[in-house]
This record gives sequence, C-alpha cells and structure tokens, in this order.
Amino acid sequence: MKEELLKKISSKEIKVGVVGLGYVGLPLAVEKAKAGFKTIGFDVQEEKVRLVNEGHNYIGDVVDSDLADLVRSRMLTATTDFSFIKDVDFIAICVPTPLDAHQQPDISYVRSSTEAISKYLTKGTMVVLESTTYPGTTEELIKPILEEGSGLKCGEDFYLGFSPERVDPGNLIYKTKNTPKVVGAIGKDATEVIAAMYRAVLEGEVYEVSSPAVAEMEKILENTYRNVNIGLVNELTMLCQKLGISMWEVVDAAKTKPYGFQAFYPGPGLGGHCIPLDPYYLSWKAREYGFHTSMIESSMMINDQMPEYCVERASKILNRQMKSMKGSKILVLGVAYKQDIDDYRESPALRVIEILKREEAEVDFYDPWIAEYKYKGEKNQGIKEINSEIIASYDLIMITAAHSNVDYDMIQKNAVAIFDTKNVMKAIENRENIEVL
Ligand SMILES: NC(=O)c1ccc[n+]([C@@H]2O[C@H](COP(=O)([O-])OP(=O)(O)OC[C@H]3O[C@@H](n4cnc5c(N)ncnc54)[C@H](O)[C@@H]3O)[C@@H](O)[C@H]2O)c1
Repeated sequence: MKEELLKKISSKEIKVGVVGLGYVGLPLAVEKAKAGFKTIGFDVQEEKVRLVNEGHNYIGDVVDSDLADLVRSRMLTATTDFSFIKDVDFIAICVPTPLDAHQQPDISYVRSSTEAISKYLTKGTMVVLESTTYPGTTEELIKPILEEGSGLKCGEDFYLGFSPERVDPGNLIYKTKNTPKVVGAIGKDATEVIAAMYRAVLEGEVYEVSSPAVAEMEKILENTYRNVNIGLVNELTMLCQKLGISMWEVVDAAKTKPYGFQAFYPGPGLGGHCIPLDPYYLSWKAREYGFHTSMIESSMMINDQMPEYCVERASKILNRQMKSMKGSKILVLGVAYKQDIDDYRESPALRVIEILKREEAEVDFYDPWIAEYKYKGEKNQGIKEINSEIIASYDLIMITAAHSNVDYDMIQKNAVAIFDTKNVMKAIENRENIEVL
C-alpha cells in the first residue's frame, strides 16, 4: 500500500477529500487542488457547498480568483453527499471542535463526520484529522469508528494520522501553503506517506513525530502557550494599573531583549475558535488521570475576568465625568476577536457588550468587518457608519478590536471619552480623552 500511494502522490493521481469547508478546510482544499490534486470538499451545510460549486469564496484567507479558477477547471468541487468518499485516496477532517454548555469538549462533529466517512472508506485511503483536540482522539475515537464502519483494518487497509492545522486568519505572511506542518500517524509507513502527501502540496517544512498523540499534544501546547502568556500579561496589566505603570510600555521594553522573551499584549479577553477553547480539551483529558492543569485553570480565570474588568474600568471613566453606567451611551468599536477579520467566535467584545447591557448602559457597536452578530440566540445589528457627529453623540467609545481600517484620528478629535483596550491609538499625540487598558 505504501509504495503504491507514494507513486500516486508523485504522479498527482491522488484524489483528495476535505471534510468541513470552514476557515481551515476551504484554504486546505484550495491548496491541494492548486498543487494538482483533484479535490472534493464535503460539508453538511448546503449553502457552503453551493457557494463553492458556484466559485464564490467566503473565507478571507482564500484568494477569490484561485477558488473560481479551480472550480471552473473542475479541480475543486463540493458536495454534501458522503458516498463520494469512496472516490478519494486522501481525507482531511477539518470539522469544528467546540465546547459544550459545561465547558467540556464537544467532539460530536468529529464523531459524526468520521461515522459518515467510515461507511464509504475504501482500501488504500489515508485519513488525517486536522481539527484541534485532546491527545488520544485519533487512536481512541477515530480508529475504532473507521474500523467498525468500514470493516477495514488500520495500518493494513488504510492509514490514519493527525496533523494539526495552524491557520492564522488575517496573517499576511503565513498562510496554509507556507506554514510548517506537523504529522503524526499510526505506524511508520502511514507517517511517511501522509507526510509525503503534505510535502507535495506545502512549501513549509513537514515535521514528522512518532504518534498522533504527540501531534495532538503539540497543537494544544502551541495554543496553551499563548493562553497562559496572555493570562500572565493580563494579570500584570491589572497590577500595573494600580502601580500607575503602562503594561504596554513594559512589554515593548521587554521585547528589546533579543532572546528568551516573546511579546504578548493585554486585551479585553481571549477570542477565536482556538486559544480560549483548546486548553479545556487538555484539562478535560488530564482529569481522566486525576491530574489538574493548574496553570491552564489560572490563566483561564484571569482571561475570563477581563471583559468584566474592562467594564469596571469603563465605569470609572464615566464616573470621572459624573456619569453613571446606567443610561450612558457607549459605542463598542470592534466585535471581531482580532484585527482585520470578520470572525467573532468567542470574541470578548460580545461579553463586554453583554455586561454593559446588564448594567443598563445604552450600547451600540460598530465593526467595519461585521454588520451583525448572533450571541446566545439573539441577533445584534451594528451601526452602519461612524462620523464626527455620531462619535460625539456617545459618552464613551470603547475600542475592543484593533482594526486598521478605522479613522482613529477622527475618533480622538470628536469623542467625549475613549477607552482603548487594544492600544490601537498609541500613535495619536493628543491623549486628553484617551485611557488605555
Ligand atoms: N479557525 C482557525 O483559525 C483554526 C486554526 C487552527 C485550527 N483550527 C481547528 O480546525 C478545526 C476547524 O475549525 P474551523 O475554524 O475551520 O471551523 P469552521 O466552523 O469554520 O468550519 C467547520 C466546517 O465543518 C462543517 N461540518 C460540521 N460538521 C460536519 C460534518 N459532520 N461533516 C462535514 N462537515 C461538517 C461545518 O459546516 C463547517 O463548514 C477546529 O478543530 C479548530 O479548532 C481552527
């Protein structure tokens, strides 16, 4: 099986299936197809499948014309029909791995997509999970489902591995194509073949590890590293406020050290589908062994309290103007979880708005990337534009995302008061109405 697959990889005869056409899956499908592999995208959302088949792009990191060209040349198609799994030789699973209502891993998407794949899995196929998850998922969950559903044997009839996705939406330098990738599979042959398949597509290094569990853990380490360091910086920000020191200035000074320090900045909390969620996958797994990941728990506690802390600071700013939070008009600027993207999953700004509303402030939001968002089942519509008059009509402008396509000069000149939780106005000289987190 190994030699045959390696041959098919080098002759580009491998047909690729990408399951889940979201932020991770669609860019991956496009890269595979661009590299000359016929690719089928699978999704349960008919709307996404329709858009892809019409050549319409809906993911920021994908170049519109790339998608349109690949669809036109039939290198990329999409379907909701999993029976086409039987036609592919390489399957990448890129479905969501969120948390449930009790902050525990929800692997129902991984399970159901794997079950759907298992019904049509054929001999000589490579299957790779790319969704972020706890160490052990590939061997303990995916392998038995695939073996039972297909009647095939892992390692003999099909290869199985894990290769974490490192997509960083909005990153202008590192995209799917040039970001190094880690691969860990069940058995040496599987690792070699799956790594070869990625090497045939990507420019970045493909780094092999000894098992799927190492690759799964490696991904969680990456995200936990960010989570814990952001927690540290946020905690020190709260202390610096008491000491009358700017944490931003402290971090900028520390990062002049050319080794041993990586800069992380304060903010209103964690956002996105990865950093706030993934460490919970590890703490959940750790509890199976009676082990407590105390660093993760502490940083989660700190980061989770940041929206509340930011509202407290906002309240103090209003207080200095002899205003109460109740009834004050507040404009929250930026609901995306980070700058220059349209993704608001887990965005701390949504919690900030929720708390402001609970305190009976009159809250609007503006985001040049997001016209409306859904939170806890409710739709929220943003204001469509900002100008000097609109800005002047609010008691407080609270900046919660550092979007680059906003006229901050105009805001500074017209706002009564500004609470900048992202230090995005750092270059503005007149600071009389600006307070920074
Ligand atoms: N978005 C990121 O920046 C990022 C970065 C690195 C890793 N990841 C990880 O990658 C995984 C996917 O994340 P994403 O951001 O692409 O999610 P997403 O929600 O954008 O996309 C997931 C897609 O999977 C589809 N889907 C759900 N169930 C399915 C099923 N049973 N069969 C087929 N398709 C199904 C959904 O309809 C959706 O289109 C997650 O585990 C995430 O943690 C995401």
